[in-house]
Order: sequence, then C-alpha cells, then structure tokens
Amino acid sequence: MTRKILVTAALPYANGHIHLGHLVEYIQTDIWVRFQKLRGNLCAFLCADDTHGTAIMMRARQEGRSEDALIADMRDAHLRDFTRFDVAFDNYGSTNSPENLALCGEIWSSLRHAGLVVEEDVTQLFDVEAGTFLADRFVKGICPKCGSADQYGDNCDKCGATYSPSDLKNPVSTLSGSIPELRSAKHLFVRIETLHDFLNEWTQDGEHLQPEVANYLKGHFLQDPLRDWDVSRPAPYFGFPIPDSPGNYWYVWFDAPIGYMASLAEWCQRHGESFDDWWPRGADAETRGAEIHHFIGKDITYFHTLFWPAMLKAAGFKLPRQVHIHGFLTVDGEKMSKSKGTFVRASTYVKHLDPAFLRYFYASKLSAKLDDLDMNLDEFADKVNSDLVGKVVNLASRSARFVQPTGLSPIYPEDGGLFAQAAAEGEAIASAYDHLDYNTAMRLVMGLADRANKYIDEQAPWTLKKDPSQAGRLRDICTVTLNLFRQLAVYLAPVLPRLAEQAGELLHSPIRHWSDAQTPLAGTPVGEFQHMLKRVDKAQVLKMIEESREEAPGQATLASAPGATTSPPATDGPEALAAEPLAATCTFDDFAKVDMRVARVVAAEDLAESNKLLRLTLSLGGDDRRNVFAGIKGVYEPASLVGRLVILCANLAPRKMKFGVSEGMVLAAGPGGKDIFILAPDSGAVPGQRVH
Ligand code: MSP
Ligand code: ZN
Repeated sequence: MTRKILVTAALPYANGHIHLGHLVEYIQTDIWVRFQKLRGNLCAFLCADDTHGTAIMMRARQEGRSEDALIADMRDAHLRDFTRFDVAFDNYGSTNSPENLALCGEIWSSLRHAGLVVEEDVTQLFDVEAGTFLADRFVKGICPKCGSADQYGDNCDKCGATYSPSDLKNPVSTLSGSIPELRSAKHLFVRIETLHDFLNEWTQDGEHLQPEVANYLKGHFLQDPLRDWDVSRPAPYFGFPIPDSPGNYWYVWFDAPIGYMASLAEWCQRHGESFDDWWPRGADAETRGAEIHHFIGKDITYFHTLFWPAMLKAAGFKLPRQVHIHGFLTVDGEKMSKSKGTFVRASTYVKHLDPAFLRYFYASKLSAKLDDLDMNLDEFADKVNSDLVGKVVNLASRSARFVQPTGLSPIYPEDGGLFAQAAAEGEAIASAYDHLDYNTAMRLVMGLADRANKYIDEQAPWTLKKDPSQAGRLRDICTVTLNLFRQLAVYLAPVLPRLAEQAGELLHSPIRHWSDAQTPLAGTPVGEFQHMLKRVDKAQVLKMIEESREEAPGQATLASAPGATTSPPATDGPEALAAEPLAATCTFDDFAKVDMRVARVVAAEDLAESNKLLRLTLSLGGDDRRNVFAGIKGVYEPASLVGRLVILCANLAPRKMKFGVSEGMVLAAGPGGKDIFILAPDSGAVPGQRVH
C-alpha cells in the first residue's frame, strides 16, 4: 500500500553556516525520504530557515545591516550547501514568511480560546548597554551550586545544576561585557500542565518516540507538574509581534515548529495540493492526512516532544506519527572544535572532498539510537576507499569496457544464484532503511558486494579478453557482474543518488524503483564507463581540517564574551551567538583596502517602513553623492544630522536592501541599541578627504 508521508528536518538557524554536525541530520533525513520515494511512497520533504530571535538580531546589529538582508544571504548559503550534499527538500521556506505569520496567529488564537495562555511578570537580567533583556545563553557567571566560573545562565556544565540566570553569581552579559541589572516585564505563558495527561499518554505509549526518549521525558519532566512555557519576549526582538499583546513578540521557539506547517503550505500552493489533505485539523484529524515524521537532534528534544505536541493537540491539528531523534557528531572522539579545525563547514568540506563520501560514511554509522556518531578521520578515509571504491565502483570499472561493444548477453546467464540471493535480501535491506538502521543496511549491502567481488576475482574476465573463443563467456561474466553492480546501486540509491544515476546511464536503464533490483537486465546496451568515485587521499582530509582551524577570536569582537571559550558549544542553542567569531586578525594589507572618507550629511530621512534605518544622502565633495542606510533610527533625529561631517567607508560593496541600494557605511561606535555614537572628524576636515 502506498504511504503518504510528510517529513521534516529541524530548521537550521539563520545565524550560522551549515557544518558537518548539521549534516548528520539532513543526510539522515534525506536518505529516508529518498528511500520512501524509491519504494513508491508519496513523500514531501519540508524544511526552512529558522530566522527569528535575539541571536539574529544581535548579529544583524553587529554587521550593521537589516535582519532581512542577513537572513536572505544565509538562506542562499544554506541552500547552496544542501544542494551540494544532495539534500533535496521538496520545499525550503522561512519562518519569517506570511504563511508562518498566519499559522502562528491561528494556533495562538486556539491557545487563547482554550484558556491556555496566562500572563506573568518575569524578572530578567537586562543589558543596559545593549538595550535588551538577556536570554540564558547571553549571561555567564559563577554557578550558584558548585561555584564553577564561566557558566551559562541556564545550567552548569561542571555540576549539571539547572537554575535561572538571575541566580548566577557575578553575572556578566556576553553581548557587551557589562554587568546586567534585573528588570521586570510582562510575559505570556502557555499552561501546558493542562495537557499533562495527554503528554503522558502520547510520549509513553511506545508509538511515537524511541524508548530512551520516552524514559528521559518521564524521568526529567513528566513526573512533576509541567512548568508554564514562556512564549513571549519583550521588544526589542526580531520576530512576529503578538497581535493581542502590544510590545511583545512570540519567542522564536513558538514560531519555529509552526514553520514546518508554513513550509508545507508553500509546497501545497506550488503543487495544487490541499494543506488539509496532508496536515488535517479537527475531530477526525488522526484518521486522515499524511503520516508526519520529524527528524531532530537530541538537543531540541523537549521542544518537539512536549511543547510541540501540546500545541498541536490544543489547536486540534494532527499529531506527529514519530519524532526521530539522533545523537551528536564528534570528530576523532571529541566535540567539534574550532581551534582543532574539526568544526568543518559544509562549504569547506566540498572544496576538498566528495559529498558522496560523507553521505556513505554517515549512513554506515547511523542507527535508530540516540548515540553520538564519531567521525574518526582515518576510518572515514579507509571506509570510503575500501567499500565504495574497492567493492562497489570497482565492479563496474573492471567489467563495463569488455561489454561496451556488444552490450549485455541476450539472456541472463547462470550465476550460481548470486543475483537471486541479492534480490531476496532486498526486503531485509528495505526494512533496515525504514527503521533508520542504516548501518545494518550498509552492512548487508557490503556483504552482497563482497560476494560479487569474489565472483569477479574468481572469473577474472581480464584474463579472457585475448582469447576470441572465450568471447561468449567473457560477455556472460560481465553481464553478471554489471547486474550485481546495478543491484548494489539500487540498494545504495538513497545514500548515493549520483552513483545510482551513473549506473542507470552506464546500463541505459535508469533506476527508478526499489524493485529494479529484482530483475536482471539482459540484451541491453552498455555505455562507456565514466569515472564514478575517486579514492580519498588522507592529505585532502588534513587540508580540510587545516583550513577549518581558527585562531581564538580577538578581544575586539563584540560577540566574544569576556572569558568566553574559543570553541563555542557544538550546538547553537536557540539563543546562542553566531557560530563564528566576527573579527579575525586584520592584516595591514586588509586594512589598506578600506577607503575611508570625510563626508557631509546633506539629507537625512526617516524610513517609515523600517524601525531601524534612516536614509542618508552624503556628499563627498563636488557631484559625488552617496545613498546610505544607517541603523540609527530613534538614536539621532534626522534633522539634527543634516550638515554634520561623518566618516564614510566609501568602498564597501554596494548592498541591495529592501528600500534601495546602500552605497557605503557611516562609522559609529558603541554597543548598539540606543547607544550608538557617530564618529566625526574635526571641523577643519573637508568632504572627500581621505581618512588616514
Ligand atoms: N533552529 C533550531 C531548530 C528549530 S526546529 C523547529 C535548531 N537549529 S540548529 O541549526 O542549531 O540545528 C539544526 C539541527 O541540527 C538540530 O536538529 C540539531 O540537533 C542538529 N545539529 C546541530 N549540531 C549538531 C551536531 N554537532 N551533531 C548532530 N546534529 C547537530 O536547533
Ligand atoms: Zn555547578
């Protein structure tokens, strides 16, 4: 029976680039989706960028541009990375989309109607310099339990205690380095305790979660009353304003999972499908629609296994069939680290190595368990070389050219039962894929590859080539070998889509369905053997690591907290800072490239549509005028700027923004928020003069 399946992978934060850790998840999910499609199931694979939150807001501020510009660039980068790794989403949306805003509104009003929203005052640390409340991850201090220094505001990685940031001793804001003060503001909470019985049932019935996850939830959350969930943040915040609570925004984790639905809505619009046929709502929702499968990493478990089902339940939407949770990537047995060069970006990897290698390596390591997955760099190179190059591609490269002139034998020859055996294993391999037991699937496939290699080694077709009387036998042996190769290509197609494509081209018979492994080809043409996969050279791996190595970020970075570790946590928590340091050392040559000029403000105008930007017209003397958007709205009165001298970075690449092209940047100092100070030359300076 054809299944109808909706699959999501977690929405990557728009504040950082895709790295090898993320790819564990996107590759795991993509393999599953490709497998389901190959089996003939109807399957939609949805994802989006997760764009909201303090981290994005702060990063945009630091980079002196709008959040919209930042998330647009990041989206392009993410999509480029996913494409290179053959992660093929059916739709890639954004949580900052009109669809998402509409769905958030609908779910919100359901929560309101169900009486689940309550208001409470929250006293939180406030960074006066940065002008913002501080999320847990933006505060560091001394653990109130064990006294360890340099701990984040939510929990201590030395003693494991969890606490609230206001309990930290000697708290320091990681945004500005200043000492935050306590301030209180109204927040909105979802009273999920009301859904405790439902969550007990849903998480513990053995249907939706891995047993380890169910036990974890039971032991850590469900045995006590569930705490109200804080879903609002006061301004300033980059997110959606809450329609019935002026000055407050939905917390990023409220609108992020709704982004799954928004992405589905976009996909439905593009394909003439009905949203309700996929993600139904109402009393009969559980009996209709698609099977919903979420794939996530273990760090975001409780958002997806407590809050999200509670929200769906309260709003009457169909619940996920399963939430599949994977462990974390370690490299050579350790957490990914920037200083060790093991925090490798997807874009760095592809400069050195074939993405197919990583897909195969991860598949060979992945199971349905939550265990972390280790990428040992020697093992990586050895495994790819011995399995893919030495056992799979090798079958085709050693046989195809002998039958290229004649094509395959007209009748599939006697092969001692090899093809039939491998065909019979198809269901076991399929079941391993379906249960996310990819390492078992890979083991079974490599077992078949071993048998095929034994066959070709024994038959040694290359020894028959010179003897014309053996032409028929040579053709038969190669026919068998190429069919065994094609079977492997079918079984590996979810992991190695390009290899499957190449096998299809070589044998003039595209691989479209799992069942293509059940019947051998005979009497069909054989194309010219094209190179498929090169061996991995360990030197390439080392080069990649070398290129990923980063020096400790310097003091000048706004983002680097006093005493912050040089290797940030491998996870970018919801409010974590940008994954990469913002300022590396600048050489004299780098600096010499910057063309700074004295300029005079000749016009300044409020942009009604923006809450941050002023439009400035600057004169560099003569006719040289520049249009610049500066993030100083609310800081300077436009009229007070006209006539002032400023310093302009004049050769900054022009940047297209929503309101026009910005042709430079006005230099200013300060931590941000209302505390920005335009740097001004003394009055004797003349517009157009170079700043030395
Ligand atoms: N934006 C949230 C998810 C919102 S879903 C409604 C988020 N983003 S993330 O970019 O930090 O992570 C995206 C996914 O990648 C998460 O499932 C996360 O667990 C996974 N991984 C991030 N780093 C990882 C490793 N080092 N190893 C394995 N998976 C990792 O969380
Ligand atoms: Zn502690």
